[in-house]
Amino acid sequence: MSLLVLYDEEGKVLKVEMDHDSIVKTLEDLCIIFQRWQVKNLPEDASEEDVLKAYEKEIESIKSFYKFVSLDVASITPDHPKKSELRNMFLREHTHSDFEVRFFVDGMGTFYLHLRDKVYAVVCEKGDFISVPANTPHWFDMGKNPSFKAIRFFSIPEGWVANFTGSDISEKIPDHDSIVSSWL
Ligand SMILES: [Fe+2]
Repeated sequence: MSLLVLYDEEGKVLKVEMDHDSIVKTLEDLCIIFQRWQVKNLPEDASEEDVLKAYEKEIESIKSFYKFVSLDVASITPDHPKKSELRNMFLREHTHSDFEVRFFVDGMGTFYLHLRDKVYAVVCEKGDFISVPANTPHWFDMGKNPSFKAIRFFSIPEGWVANFTGSDISEKIPDHDSIVSSWL
Protein backbone atom coordinates (compact mmCIF):
# COMPACT_ATOMS: atom_id res chain seq x y z
CA MET A 1 0.00 0.00 0.00
CA SER A 2 1.30 3.44 -0.89
CA LEU A 3 1.34 6.07 1.81
CA LEU A 4 1.87 9.80 2.07
CA VAL A 5 2.35 11.51 5.43
CA LEU A 6 2.44 15.29 5.45
CA TYR A 7 4.44 16.96 8.24
CA ASP A 8 5.18 20.48 9.31
CA GLU A 9 8.87 21.35 9.72
CA GLU A 10 8.82 20.26 13.37
CA GLY A 11 7.57 16.76 12.56
CA LYS A 12 3.91 17.26 13.44
CA VAL A 13 1.56 15.15 11.30
CA LEU A 14 -0.76 17.36 9.26
CA LYS A 15 -2.35 14.77 6.97
CA VAL A 16 -2.16 11.09 6.04
CA GLU A 17 -3.16 9.80 2.61
CA MET A 18 -3.43 6.11 1.79
CA ASP A 19 -5.47 6.26 -1.39
CA HIS A 20 -3.16 5.96 -4.40
CA ASP A 21 -5.16 8.35 -6.61
CA SER A 22 -5.21 11.02 -3.89
CA ILE A 23 -1.46 10.68 -3.41
CA VAL A 24 -0.91 11.02 -7.18
CA LYS A 25 -3.03 14.20 -7.24
CA THR A 26 -1.34 15.75 -4.19
CA LEU A 27 2.11 15.10 -5.65
CA GLU A 28 1.13 16.15 -9.16
CA ASP A 29 0.25 19.62 -7.82
CA LEU A 30 3.85 19.77 -6.57
CA CYS A 31 5.32 18.64 -9.93
CA ILE A 32 6.23 15.23 -8.49
CA ILE A 33 5.28 12.35 -10.77
CA PHE A 34 4.02 9.28 -8.91
CA GLN A 35 2.72 6.27 -10.81
CA ARG A 36 1.79 2.66 -10.21
CA TRP A 37 3.23 0.25 -12.76
CA GLN A 38 1.97 -3.28 -13.30
CA VAL A 39 4.26 -5.53 -11.25
CA LYS A 40 5.94 -8.37 -13.17
CA ASN A 41 6.67 -11.73 -11.68
CA LEU A 42 10.41 -11.95 -11.24
CA PRO A 43 12.47 -14.35 -9.17
CA GLU A 44 14.14 -12.84 -6.09
CA ASP A 45 17.57 -13.37 -7.63
CA ALA A 46 16.63 -11.80 -10.99
CA SER A 47 19.63 -10.15 -12.63
CA GLU A 48 19.80 -6.47 -13.60
CA GLU A 49 19.35 -7.53 -17.21
CA ASP A 50 16.22 -9.58 -16.35
CA VAL A 51 14.69 -6.66 -14.46
CA LEU A 52 15.33 -4.16 -17.25
CA LYS A 53 14.00 -6.62 -19.82
CA ALA A 54 10.81 -7.24 -17.80
CA TYR A 55 10.06 -3.50 -17.62
CA GLU A 56 11.28 -2.70 -21.14
CA LYS A 57 7.95 -1.27 -22.34
CA GLU A 58 7.45 0.97 -19.31
CA ILE A 59 11.03 2.22 -19.52
CA GLU A 60 10.62 2.96 -23.23
CA SER A 61 7.40 4.90 -22.62
CA ILE A 62 9.04 7.39 -20.23
CA LYS A 63 12.37 7.62 -22.07
CA SER A 64 11.25 10.33 -24.48
CA PHE A 65 10.20 12.59 -21.61
CA TYR A 66 13.45 12.35 -19.65
CA LYS A 67 16.05 11.58 -22.31
CA PHE A 68 17.91 9.25 -19.98
CA VAL A 69 21.57 8.64 -20.59
CA SER A 70 21.73 5.59 -18.36
CA LEU A 71 19.83 3.41 -15.96
CA ASP A 72 20.69 0.66 -13.53
CA VAL A 73 19.18 -1.52 -10.83
CA ALA A 74 20.09 -0.85 -7.20
CA SER A 75 19.29 -3.49 -4.63
CA ILE A 76 19.91 -4.05 -0.96
CA THR A 77 18.95 -6.74 1.53
CA PRO A 78 18.84 -6.65 5.36
CA ASP A 79 22.03 -8.74 5.55
CA HIS A 80 24.09 -6.23 3.56
CA PRO A 81 27.32 -5.59 5.55
CA LYS A 82 27.31 -1.86 4.74
CA LYS A 83 23.58 -1.26 5.21
CA SER A 84 24.05 1.50 7.84
CA GLU A 85 26.62 3.29 5.73
CA LEU A 86 24.40 3.08 2.66
CA ARG A 87 21.36 4.24 4.61
CA ASN A 88 23.25 7.23 6.02
CA MET A 89 24.45 8.35 2.58
CA PHE A 90 21.12 9.93 1.64
CA LEU A 91 19.55 10.44 5.07
CA ARG A 92 20.35 14.15 5.30
CA GLU A 93 18.56 16.75 3.21
CA HIS A 94 20.13 17.24 -0.22
CA THR A 95 19.41 18.17 -3.81
CA HIS A 96 20.62 16.84 -7.17
CA SER A 97 21.19 18.60 -10.45
CA ASP A 98 19.24 15.75 -12.10
CA PHE A 99 15.76 14.34 -11.57
CA GLU A 100 15.73 11.54 -9.01
CA VAL A 101 13.70 8.91 -10.81
CA ARG A 102 13.09 5.50 -9.29
CA PHE A 103 10.88 2.51 -9.92
CA PHE A 104 10.50 0.06 -7.03
CA VAL A 105 10.71 -3.45 -8.45
CA ASP A 106 10.56 -4.87 -4.94
CA GLY A 107 10.65 -3.84 -1.28
CA MET A 108 10.16 -0.30 -0.02
CA GLY A 109 11.73 2.99 1.04
CA THR A 110 10.60 6.51 1.95
CA PHE A 111 11.29 9.72 0.06
CA TYR A 112 10.95 12.92 2.06
CA LEU A 113 10.28 15.99 -0.05
CA HIS A 114 10.77 19.35 1.63
CA LEU A 115 8.56 21.78 -0.24
CA ARG A 116 7.93 25.26 1.10
CA ASP A 117 7.27 24.83 4.85
CA LYS A 118 6.11 21.21 4.67
CA VAL A 119 7.62 17.74 4.38
CA TYR A 120 5.91 15.10 2.24
CA ALA A 121 6.98 11.59 3.26
CA VAL A 122 6.15 9.25 0.40
CA VAL A 123 6.47 5.59 1.31
CA CYS A 124 7.23 3.85 -1.98
CA GLU A 125 6.71 0.15 -2.38
CA LYS A 126 6.84 -2.54 -5.06
CA GLY A 127 5.19 -1.16 -8.22
CA ASP A 128 5.66 2.55 -7.40
CA PHE A 129 7.39 4.96 -9.77
CA ILE A 130 8.46 8.34 -8.45
CA SER A 131 10.15 11.28 -10.12
CA VAL A 132 11.53 14.08 -7.95
CA PRO A 133 12.47 17.17 -9.99
CA ALA A 134 16.05 18.46 -10.02
CA ASN A 135 17.00 20.79 -7.16
CA THR A 136 14.13 19.65 -4.90
CA PRO A 137 15.35 19.43 -1.26
CA HIS A 138 14.74 15.85 -0.16
CA TRP A 139 16.17 12.81 1.58
CA PHE A 140 15.62 9.07 1.37
CA ASP A 141 15.35 6.53 4.16
CA MET A 142 15.59 2.81 3.43
CA GLY A 143 15.21 1.88 7.12
CA LYS A 144 17.47 0.03 9.57
CA ASN A 145 16.96 -3.28 7.79
CA PRO A 146 16.69 -2.20 4.17
CA SER A 147 15.11 -4.36 1.55
CA PHE A 148 14.42 -3.04 -1.91
CA LYS A 149 15.28 -3.35 -5.56
CA ALA A 150 14.83 -0.25 -7.71
CA ILE A 151 15.52 0.87 -11.25
CA ARG A 152 17.38 4.19 -11.21
CA PHE A 153 17.20 6.49 -14.21
CA PHE A 154 19.81 9.15 -14.94
CA SER A 155 19.48 11.94 -17.49
CA ILE A 156 22.86 13.58 -16.91
CA PRO A 157 26.20 11.97 -15.99
CA GLU A 158 26.93 12.34 -12.26
CA GLY A 159 23.36 13.59 -11.78
CA TRP A 160 22.99 11.37 -8.70
CA VAL A 161 25.65 13.30 -6.74
CA ALA A 162 24.08 14.73 -3.58
CA ASN A 163 24.49 18.42 -2.74
CA PHE A 164 23.78 18.60 0.99
CA THR A 165 21.79 21.63 2.16
CA GLY A 166 23.25 21.55 5.68
CA SER A 167 19.75 21.43 7.19
CA ASP A 168 19.06 19.08 10.13
CA ILE A 169 15.36 18.81 9.32
CA SER A 170 15.59 15.08 8.60
CA GLU A 171 16.31 14.53 12.31
CA LYS A 172 12.99 16.15 13.27
CA ILE A 173 10.80 14.02 11.03
CA PRO A 174 9.95 10.37 11.89
CA ASP A 175 12.13 7.90 10.01
CA HIS A 176 10.99 5.20 7.58
CA ASP A 177 10.72 2.50 10.26
CA SER A 178 8.58 4.73 12.52
CA ILE A 179 6.26 5.64 9.67
CA VAL A 180 5.85 2.03 8.60
CA SER A 181 5.14 0.85 12.15
CA SER A 182 2.66 3.70 12.77
CA TRP A 183 0.66 3.56 9.56
CA LEU A 184 1.18 0.32 7.65
FE1 LIG B 1 18.49 12.09 -3.55
